[in-house]
Amino acid sequence: MRVLVAASEVAGFAKTGGLADVAGALPAALARRGNLAAVVMPLYNAVRKTGVPIERTGIVLPVPMGDRTLACRVFRSRLPGTDVPVFLVEHAPYFERDDARAGRGLYQFQTDGGKADYWDNGERFVFFSRAVLELVPHLGFPPDVIHANDWQTGLVPVYLAETYRNTPGYQRIRSVFTIHNIAYQGSFPRELMNYTGLPGWLYNPGQLEHYGFNFLKSGIVYADAVNTVSPTYAREIQTGEFGCGLEGLLNNVHWKLSGIVNGCDYHDWNPERDKHIAAKYTADTVFDRKPLCKADLQRRFSVKEDPAAPVLGVVARLVAQKGIDLVISAAQGFLDLGCQLIVLGDGDLHFHHQLQALRDRNPERVGVFLGFNEGLAHAVEAGSDLFLMPSKYEPCGLNQMYSLKYGTPPVVRTTGGLADTVVNATLENLADGRATGFTFGDYTAHALYETVRWALTLLRDRPLEFRQIVRTAMAQDWSWDRSADVYERLYRKITGA
Ligand code: ADP
Ligand code: GLC
Repeated sequence: MRVLVAASEVAGFAKTGGLADVAGALPAALARRGNLAAVVMPLYNAVRKTGVPIERTGIVLPVPMGDRTLACRVFRSRLPGTDVPVFLVEHAPYFERDDARAGRGLYQFQTDGGKADYWDNGERFVFFSRAVLELVPHLGFPPDVIHANDWQTGLVPVYLAETYRNTPGYQRIRSVFTIHNIAYQGSFPRELMNYTGLPGWLYNPGQLEHYGFNFLKSGIVYADAVNTVSPTYAREIQTGEFGCGLEGLLNNVHWKLSGIVNGCDYHDWNPERDKHIAAKYTADTVFDRKPLCKADLQRRFSVKEDPAAPVLGVVARLVAQKGIDLVISAAQGFLDLGCQLIVLGDGDLHFHHQLQALRDRNPERVGVFLGFNEGLAHAVEAGSDLFLMPSKYEPCGLNQMYSLKYGTPPVVRTTGGLADTVVNATLENLADGRATGFTFGDYTAHALYETVRWALTLLRDRPLEFRQIVRTAMAQDWSWDRSADVYERLYRKITGA
């Protein structure tokens, strides 16, 4: 298969969350399996700041935007350690804002009171989606499939079907659209249609309209195949509780909807060769070496260096989705059980303030780093005793897969990909040696607390069983190869190959 993956963020170049991990790892896995893959993303100043080598290509794309046509240059790089090209579309006014307060802001900027979306996000991603289509003749191979991701590239399937369908070189291309998070839909005022070059009559509830000009919905309507990032989430989003208003549509298109669990990039996330952690380890050495990682973590978060205190780790975007409110509500209970709590995250200011207050009250036992830090994320995975992920909803979740690999049993709520990847330590699963972590159902601080308490019972009083969980967790294989195989089959199905 020849596949062009379009995404608004790619790990190693620019990242706010798991979408970037997927956009970086899936194409590499496809290429390893003998497919041709390429990636396209915007050239943000965040990319320039990473220092990854990028080179000019000489390609200049004409991108129609309303009654203007923008000429934009394309740069090229590669996915780290591969030959997979990454095309970077330049348009400085959209993607290289030199607002000191913008920070990493790919979609948002910092205000005094918190964060706000850029006012022209709609325009920025109309532009990018159109540029993806214009790039096709320059890829060096004719793609069978364009694989778009999330609302930022939701118009790619629309353009393919409405604008390019009869253009030579495009007729045989099929589209896949992956929903990584249905809560972010990219909904904009109708006037934005003026930039798209699409006929105005497409703005109707059967096509592009859903509380405005809705990019996510547009992608779902037009793509040849739609998938989300776990089977459980694929079912959940067809219900009112999780569908964020699109459940009716998703029910209607269930024939082209599937769930494919993300892979875990074991090249980046592997305690055997992780350069970010204090002591590398395997399943054979985990119980000797992990304590070194724990001590290092305690030092890096300035909590008491205490081998006996169970460390509960969190790495997350600090937003309601992630169940941070449950962690904060249960925190005192955790401390009363003798635990330490370590949180790495960036997000909503009210969570920042609550976590800072918690740390200020318990400086020896609560460590908080508010910001984005790749190295620390690895240190938390390796140094914690348990990893907390009590999400309200979780399309797939990558951190729980990392923590399995690092022998840090995850404590998760049974939703979305968390339900599909963690096996609960029930007595039965313990006896069978199948357990890999701890799960609970009710979205309450009490349920989280009780589950942690059960985990601590095993950790402290039944160490043999706890160690078995660690070993089983580390033996799980959620590698990309598995997921790439499923994507390949999906591509073949829609192209008839
Ligand atoms: P989501 O995409 O919803 O944020 P995932 O679990 O799929 O959740 O992926 C989150 C990714 O972002 C992981 O690779 C995680 O390590 C990373 N991450 C999240 N917050 C931070 C942070 N503050 N610092 C470093 N990495 C982070
Ligand atoms: C989204 C989801 C997360 C998923 C990631 C990658 O950000 O919130 O659950 O793992 O996308 O698919």
